[in-house]
Amino acid sequence: MTQTIAKPATPYDALGGAAVIARIVDRFYDLMDTEPTYRALRAMHAADLGPMRASLTGWLSAWAGGSQDWFAANPGKCMMSYHRSLGVTAKTAGQWSDAMARAIAEAGPADKALGRTMAERLDMMAQAMVRR
Ligand code: HEM
Repeated sequence: MTQTIAKPATPYDALGGAAVIARIVDRFYDLMDTEPTYRALRAMHAADLGPMRASLTGWLSAWAGGSQDWFAANPGKCMMSYHRSLGVTAKTAGQWSDAMARAIAEAGPADKALGRTMAERLDMMAQAMVRR
């Protein structure tokens, strides 16, 4: 008898897959780009947010258990180490987390509780990036 073992659902699947991740990233950078409340965070980023939209989409997808392409294309690249030299402050980290929590909520993840957990975990990472 052949037994088929179902692949466990990943957070990526439970959130709603590629469509939801794309909505989160687009909304996140749109908020950063247009809302005066995120001005300090926006000023840290390059004028063209296009490459970052693509990179964050890839990272979030891989982190949540979707396609691992971003990790394969960036072997050994650690987000914590990468942000160490960017001068993240408590103020700008707070702006990052606030914009991300709003973007996740507005993107309408299929599993809303998981969306809130995702925002909490990303906030913990952002807080851990604060250097001064
Ligand atoms: C969990 C938290 C975070 C994640 C997952 C994250 C993710 C990313 C990713 C994927 C990139 C693009 C890297 C690349 O393609 O080389 C990036 C760049 C960047 N991030 Fe973050 N980030 C986080 C938190 C923050 C925070 C808290 C700040 C500032 C307060 C910040 C500021 C920046 C800046 C300035 C860049 C470079 C932009 C540029 O090249 O102009 N990030 N981040």
